Amino acid sequence: MESIFIKQGIVIRVLLEKWRNYGIIDEKMPDLGRNDLQRNAGEKKMKKILDLITAEITQAFVDCGYDAKYGKVTLSNRPDLCEYQCNGAMAAAKEYKKAPFMIADEVAAKLAEASMFSMAESVKPGFLNLKLDETFLASYVADMQADEGRFGCEKAENPKTIMIDYGGPNVAKPLHVGHLRSAIIGESIKRIGKFVGHKVIGDVHLGDWGLQMGLIITELKLRQPELVYFDENYEGEYPKEAPFTISELEEIYPTASKKSKEDEAYKEAAMQATYELQHGRKGYQALLSHILNVSVTDLKKNYENLNVSFELWKGESDAQPYIPAMVQKMKDDGFAYVSDGALVVDVKEDTDTKEIPPCMILKSDGASLYNTTDLATIVWREEDYDPDEIIYVVDKRQELHFVQVFRCARKTGLVKPETELKFLGFGTMNGKDGKPFKTRDGGVMRLEYLVSEIDNEMLKKITENQKAKENLGISEEEAKETAKTVALAAIKYGDLSNQASKDYIFDIDRFTSFEGNTGPYILYTIVRIKSILHKYHDLGKNADNSVITAAHSESEKNLMLELSKFNAVIEGAFTDTAPHKICSYIYDLANAFNSFYHETKIMSEEDETVQKSYIHLLELTKSVLETSIDLLGFSAPERM
Ligand code: ARG
Repeated sequence: MESIFIKQGIVIRVLLEKWRNYGIIDEKMPDLGRNDLQRNAGEKKMKKILDLITAEITQAFVDCGYDAKYGKVTLSNRPDLCEYQCNGAMAAAKEYKKAPFMIADEVAAKLAEASMFSMAESVKPGFLNLKLDETFLASYVADMQADEGRFGCEKAENPKTIMIDYGGPNVAKPLHVGHLRSAIIGESIKRIGKFVGHKVIGDVHLGDWGLQMGLIITELKLRQPELVYFDENYEGEYPKEAPFTISELEEIYPTASKKSKEDEAYKEAAMQATYELQHGRKGYQALLSHILNVSVTDLKKNYENLNVSFELWKGESDAQPYIPAMVQKMKDDGFAYVSDGALVVDVKEDTDTKEIPPCMILKSDGASLYNTTDLATIVWREEDYDPDEIIYVVDKRQELHFVQVFRCARKTGLVKPETELKFLGFGTMNGKDGKPFKTRDGGVMRLEYLVSEIDNEMLKKITENQKAKENLGISEEEAKETAKTVALAAIKYGDLSNQASKDYIFDIDRFTSFEGNTGPYILYTIVRIKSILHKYHDLGKNADNSVITAAHSESEKNLMLELSKFNAVIEGAFTDTAPHKICSYIYDLANAFNSFYHETKIMSEEDETVQKSYIHLLELTKSVLETSIDLLGFSAPERM
């Protein structure tokens, strides 16, 4: 920290003093009572701007003889009048039996000297309207910039181990748009959690244990009965090479699935094959490994295109070895009992307003179910990772399943009482007709097709844009790459900007627009900043040895006000598992930047000091936007 200040000279030393007074910087003393292992004494800690303001107002209330609790400050709901506001005098009026306006007036008078505000005004019937002092705000924002890569966002003091169960693709079945949301939302939550300093482990939780395996085996046997996998007396090693490619596999499954619906005997055979596979038939298990390998290779490629990755590639099949002991224990402890031939655990609670059926553990034929697999998955997750929290990012239509599983896990003691199990159910992605997204001919849309359709749409736009701008000299190659980058932003932002639990309409025209609340608009803003910075540096200029100084206009101040919210927004997005909060933040930030840009002559500014401050502000805006979109799981191109 110190070295930055030495480099940046005396101005900084003065500012540093000021920040220290405000408590923006909190030089921490060694505090052995706390878990401060990863933070050295003296390292700076940056408070949230709202907390600083609240502290100042609270102090004023106390100084005037009122309770501290009335000093709560919020963002203004009348941005035309003020930036922040405090309604505490309204509530204090009752307790102190005074007119609210009198209280507000006293507090405002107390604040007249406070250098944090350029305005602290009482208005009838008893509100405090606040505007920040420009120098104070500029120091805060400059300090964000000095806090490289974190911009004032603290890492968690007590990092938690969090497992996120997302993706959830089913082996051998192609990814469809339904899996898109889980991947997009889960990835973002994972990135936010890591940024905030937690240990976050993403597990793809493959669907690799169902009837689909038996179906594939049955169809394969019909086509190539001579394969060694079907010879029960075969003792040798099984071939390393799979007897099918991914495209064959993707054709085999739907064919088999269709046949099983029309042909009872075929379905019987598939069920029998599934049973034998699950009970250890060697040839079938060798086939399962082939199916898994081929599928997973393909899935990884698909997820990579979406900028999504997983720490663990576990599947339902990995939970199977844990089932027998788990079931035995549930019986021994008296939780599981036989009802209508099936083994169940009661999970209803007195406070239920709707009927929660018992959690079925084994069917009457002894077969395990989706519940059983999810419960046994909790067993190995506990054993291997001892997580503080497990978050499931799954279609909200599976909510009942998770209610049963979570209750059963708690009741039977599979998880420690303090382990949090969280179901993050997401809504359906609908087409413009308001019905679940389909292909033009009404089939289930495959993810790859959807993505490439948007890639093409984007390429068209970028090419048109190029022409309109008299050719930026973008090669075809670059245009294609850029189209992919922008398309991904369009898809992800379109999804993440909605609250996850809500259904939303996937509107290609709107999502790919360069204007409005869209991913491309955010990228466009970043690219615009990059281009100004390039121009500035191309002139041989640099803004070293200077920092952001007090705003020169309303629009510049507004940009700083937006920037200063970053740490609070990220913290909120993490606590509420709500990436949409980051989306609305960067939309506001991009708007604030573009207003500033349109009203300010940046490149032709004659006062070098002012221009340098602008350049720093641009750099900070760019970094904050880039960090935010990285947390959402996409990135910006160089130009577009
Ligand atoms: N494979 C499942 C599906 O496609 C999703 C899995 C969700 N995760 C879980 N632990 N059940 O519906």
